[in-house]
Amino acid sequence: MGLLKEHDFGTPPQPGPASVTVEIDGVPVAVPEGTSVMRAAAQTGTDIPKLCATDSLEAFGSCRLCLVEIDGKKGTPASCTTPVAEGMKVRTQTPKLEKLRQGVMELYISDHPLDCLTCAANGDCELQDMSGVVGLRQVRYGYEGENHLDAPKDTSNPYFDFDASKCIVCSRCVRACGEVQGTFALTIEGRGFDSKVSPSANDLFMDSECVSCGACVQACPTATLQEKSVVELGMPTRSVLTTCAYCGVGCSFKAELRGDELVRMVPYKDGGANEGHSCVKGRFAFGYATHPDRQLNPMIRERITDEWREVDWETAISHVAEKFRDIQARHGVGSIGGITSSRCTNEEVYVVQKLVRAAFGNNNVDTCARVCHSPTGYGLKQTFGTSAGTQDFRSVAEADVIVVIGANPTDGHPVFASRMKRRLREGAQLIVVDPRRIDLVRSPHVEASQHLQLAPGTNVAIVNALSHVVVTEGLVDRSFVTDRCEEFDEWAEFIAREENSPEATESITGVPAEQVRSAARLYASAGNGAIYYGLGVTEHSQGSTMVMGMANLAMATGNIGREGVGVNPLRGQNNVQGSCDMGSFPHELSGYRHVSDEAVREVFEKLWERPIIPEPGLRIPNMFDAAVDGSFLGLFVQGEDIAQSDPNTQHVNAALSAMELVVVQDLFLNETAKFAHVFLPGTSFLEKDGTFTNAERRINRVRPVMTPKTGKDEWRVACEIAQAMGYDMSYEHPREIMAEIAAVTPTFAGVSFDKLDKLGSVQWPCNDNAPEGTPTMHVDGFVRGKGRFVRTPFVATRERSTRKFPLILTTGRILSQYNVGAQTRRTANVAWHPEDVLEIHPHDAEERGISSGDEVTLTSRVGTTTLRAEIADRMPVGVVYTTFHHPVTGANVVTTENSDWATNCPEYKVTAVQVGLRHPVERHEAARDEEPALAD
Ligand code: SF4
Ligand code: SF4
Ligand code: SF4
Ligand code: FES
Repeated sequence: MGLLKEHDFGTPPQPGPASVTVEIDGVPVAVPEGTSVMRAAAQTGTDIPKLCATDSLEAFGSCRLCLVEIDGKKGTPASCTTPVAEGMKVRTQTPKLEKLRQGVMELYISDHPLDCLTCAANGDCELQDMSGVVGLRQVRYGYEGENHLDAPKDTSNPYFDFDASKCIVCSRCVRACGEVQGTFALTIEGRGFDSKVSPSANDLFMDSECVSCGACVQACPTATLQEKSVVELGMPTRSVLTTCAYCGVGCSFKAELRGDELVRMVPYKDGGANEGHSCVKGRFAFGYATHPDRQLNPMIRERITDEWREVDWETAISHVAEKFRDIQARHGVGSIGGITSSRCTNEEVYVVQKLVRAAFGNNNVDTCARVCHSPTGYGLKQTFGTSAGTQDFRSVAEADVIVVIGANPTDGHPVFASRMKRRLREGAQLIVVDPRRIDLVRSPHVEASQHLQLAPGTNVAIVNALSHVVVTEGLVDRSFVTDRCEEFDEWAEFIAREENSPEATESITGVPAEQVRSAARLYASAGNGAIYYGLGVTEHSQGSTMVMGMANLAMATGNIGREGVGVNPLRGQNNVQGSCDMGSFPHELSGYRHVSDEAVREVFEKLWERPIIPEPGLRIPNMFDAAVDGSFLGLFVQGEDIAQSDPNTQHVNAALSAMELVVVQDLFLNETAKFAHVFLPGTSFLEKDGTFTNAERRINRVRPVMTPKTGKDEWRVACEIAQAMGYDMSYEHPREIMAEIAAVTPTFAGVSFDKLDKLGSVQWPCNDNAPEGTPTMHVDGFVRGKGRFVRTPFVATRERSTRKFPLILTTGRILSQYNVGAQTRRTANVAWHPEDVLEIHPHDAEERGISSGDEVTLTSRVGTTTLRAEIADRMPVGVVYTTFHHPVTGANVVTTENSDWATNCPEYKVTAVQVGLRHPVERHEAARDEEPALAD
């Protein structure tokens, strides 16, 4: 495949039917009202010369290159800013236009370095292209006059350079930063000849508000903003379409290569989730895939204190199979199990859960989603009938009021946050429910109408109070509730009780009653009210209750079943939705069907030729408990660092140490690998062939950019272990695995690699009823028939602040790092977040004599760790916050074993702690044991 170039129509598409007919150079074309002449022309195949226009941005009309002549109109209007009118006749090529355009180009070129042949953008420069298109033959003005050829270069960003000498001041970068990304880091300073692009009032890019999303680099028509990788490696020559492997947004990218070398990742304009946008991780932080730390060979050792021994694949696989069989022979079928990874493809996950169910012969399979979104699965299934979000991302463009609960989209789901911010700038209102003043509360051109700054652990009290207002103030959508829901009256009686009123819950949540009332009225009376939530909802002892509470609120106000509304989890990892869909939970087969359902079991038993146990197997925490008790002795861990990401590290370590066989399959020797007896090298997303499913249920193709560096596709490993254990599991290609998934999973019945290659992506359910997928769920009825209201009494967490532990710790993520940091710490992203810090309110800091930058100890009743403090007035008094991207911090050393009552999802968001200045002696001792920097 050559280099994939999407057609640039010059201005964005307009909604609506093609109702206006115009003639472009004699060719008629019908387009929607409001379409620019430039776009209409492009639709006839005529690309009018342009420099300041591109179809990801609103027209600006500054370069004057796109002039056209229109019959009956004076002058030569700019085609990018002129909308079509019925019957309009446009001429795009006349001698007069040619002359004018050549004049414009002459001016640009006279102030531009003439180093095209050695320029990094040679062959990918619109200025160069346009010179050719307009037939520029001479530059009469000479280069002696005043010019910008000596303008300084800003190389401060680790991923791209800004060479001001090449800037034509088209403002595409400035507009991309505002319109697409929503950060507004760039401005054009000065006027006329002195005008220039400037990041945050003359800062360097690295010192500005820039978040390195790359939108400006993408938009720049010249080499002014250019990826460093292109400067170093040269212009790519071919592209492979694939999907980002970081977060649950699931952005589509063109992996652009030069020969076999990956040069850059360019967001794909037709990507359903991202529509051409990206964040710093997907766009730039892919270097970990080729980092020297990667382990490429299988390794084994008898005891975890022994040195690793590299072996070939055959030896490693037969060793694993033999050990697992031996453990089962001595301790029973249920003494081993597996954990699937939300970073792996659907196909890789499917074969691991099949390995457990068919080859191990038990249901002891769980997934890392246990520790993040398992309450979403449970809560939405109970109320709506399906364990997934209700909308596609595009839907937010139709929302009138957006409620963000326990999520920080600008850091956690940045590309979706940009969509959301765009809608907010258009006038939608925002309600933020979060203990911390996240960036969305106030950022350029965005301000929340309400910020309900509740105490950690009181989500259910708040959602009940919001619903109380809806029910008692007559804001219920009666016809929706009557026609589409059940058990409303019982719920309404419960929620109307005084104990759920904003006044009664004020002392619990800390949010003034009047503020809660205003927020409830705002949401309930919005045309379209949309709820988006994250781990700040699920990682609580009442995570599942809260999910159901939000579903109740949405149903009561009729905010389900159309565009612009819904209840939407912002999923953490790239394939957390998929790993759950694939049957990774111990109680569910693929498609969320309970193992106790005989008819469902039969389908699998017939195909797999093995009996399926009708009782659920062990969840991750139960596996750990059983390991400590001595009844669970073997574990296969696919791509997940449970020693770092699971709560109460001491207990996890004790469990792992107690096992006879821990098999870790991963890219790097992670924290869990310290307890492993076998290490099987995994593949990076650049080597995988399969699918990821994002937070919108969108199934995207992941295509191999390079052959597996380990010499083996990851999905083959589980198959070969199964075979070595005596169960025949083999496929020729991952498309066959997807075919099997489709055969056994009704919501995937219409999914195939062929269809995905044809349509780009589909959102499940995808079957005979919806052959091209389902962007919005529950449109005519809920998946379970009627939407079910569930009573959601608030029960305070056992975790309380005390005299000894007077503060509450809550955790989250930051934009530049990802999860436990195994990937991002091995990229230049460390420039932004070299260590985890503890955010603390100035009052709490002062009480403890802490200043920003001080090392502090963070202690809970289960453990203690050390961090650097950052005084942050966005924290409420009494609450501290940290990220968990660096193993040296070990934030989970302090988190407790409390968990969601329904799913065991750990209560990461509420831990009672004490913070104190670290003793100088401790500092000295620790200095000897610093974490090595990973980025090279
Ligand atoms: S990289 Fe993104 S945030 Fe930074 S200046 Fe460019 S568009 Fe703005
Ligand atoms: S940096 Fe690029 S996009 Fe920005 S004004 Fe200059 S030429 Fe245009
Ligand atoms: S928003 Fe998520 S999926 Fe998109 S580029 Fe960033 S990390 Fe990747
Ligand atoms: S492209 Fe129309 S004025 Fe620049």
